[in-house]
Amino acid sequence: MAKILPRALLLENVHADADAALQAFGPIEVKRLSGSPDRALLDEEIASASVLGIRSRTQVDAPLLAHAGALQAVGCFCIGTNQVDLEAAAAKGIPVFNAPFANTRSVAELTMASIVMLMRRIPEKMFAIHQGGWLKTADGSNEVRKKKLGIVGYGNIGAQLSVLASAFGMHVHYFDIEPKLAHGNARAMDSLDRLIAECDVVTLHVPATSRTANMMTRERIFSMKPGSYLINQARGNLVDIDALSDALKSGHLAGAAVDVFPVEPKSKDEAFESPLQDCPNVILTPHIGGSTAEAQQAIGLDAATKLAKYLFEGATSFAVNFPHVEPGPIESGRVRLVVPHENRPGFLRRLNDLAERAGANVAAQMLRTEGDLGYAVTDLEGNLPNGFIEDVRTLDGTIRARLITA
Ligand code: NAI
Repeated sequence: MAKILPRALLLENVHADADAALQAFGPIEVKRLSGSPDRALLDEEIASASVLGIRSRTQVDAPLLAHAGALQAVGCFCIGTNQVDLEAAAAKGIPVFNAPFANTRSVAELTMASIVMLMRRIPEKMFAIHQGGWLKTADGSNEVRKKKLGIVGYGNIGAQLSVLASAFGMHVHYFDIEPKLAHGNARAMDSLDRLIAECDVVTLHVPATSRTANMMTRERIFSMKPGSYLINQARGNLVDIDALSDALKSGHLAGAAVDVFPVEPKSKDEAFESPLQDCPNVILTPHIGGSTAEAQQAIGLDAATKLAKYLFEGATSFAVNFPHVEPGPIESGRVRLVVPHENRPGFLRRLNDLAERAGANVAAQMLRTEGDLGYAVTDLEGNLPNGFIEDVRTLDGTIRARLITA
């Protein structure tokens, strides 16, 4: 009898390279549906899917998961995971993956380009020439070389930008709440206030947290160096936009580049409004910092690889709602038992007693717990009796269980 292959259901036109990345770890049938299908079709298709790949439009909620009897994992081929009910998925033993860092380079490149464009005062010259004007002047135009760049948040994007800006000859300074190793000659600053007072360009690369909300207050914006530049290509709630507009119009700041806003249109049919729209020397972009073909491809590979590694190895590293276990490839002669379970005392003992009664040797075992959820990966040697996996499924505390063979 032909073996039934696991099935990946990919929606919303995730990158074509995802298919090969899924199949690199083992045989899997890939079915694609363009766009985000309506609910009736989704309910039908999800019933036989082993893994589901979505972008930001498909809502994966508890009622949908109730139809997903065979579903092992969800991959968000994007950064955010708000479209998935993460708790409901975890409660069903379904890890959810995303690709948070696949567009790092794209953002860093846009920031670097923005620094050059702002310091040359390109936006105002460009607006003028489109209207028939000819602002042929060197006034206020500068090279970026030897200027001080202040990076707020020295994580993936901040650190990548640091390398690019150093190559342009900028003096890079950074501030982070965590200790971070400097790249090249970059200098760590001991406070945000010192960084913004000293730097010619300040660029934000922090996540949205309670601590970063409105971190660029009116007071901070007006304590930036006169004639300096502010860039926010991170999150829309980091900057007091009205204060930024006032600082630009008063001439305190020489320019800004903003890609993210407190309120953003939900689609291209909605109009965008901002007090920054009538400010000269401001680059406004519609939240496209990470939107490149290369980033889409990298997201496709990253998310698909995480799904395949879960399906064929039980790996949960980088899952957003699951304890992290990275068991590696399965050695020959062994089968791998993966069991998401309730995090209560005695589960591992019950599991190992069952394996012993089945005559199987526990050759390797990993357990991680997080909140209410536990995840156990056990490599077994020996012939397992018929009905073994059903016995694991009925064990007190098991959420779901499956056996993976090499
Ligand atoms: P990351 O997590 O690698 O780095 C963030 C850094 O900020 C960390 O080093 C962290 O310690 C630091 N940090 C956190 N709170 C801080 C605070 N209060 N003060 C100073 N440092 C603080 O994140 P990554 O990937 O570098 O992304 C940075 C930002 O860029 C995020 O907000 C992300 O959402 C945004 N982003 C925007 C995109 C766009 O399309 N415009 C695309 C991708 C990311």
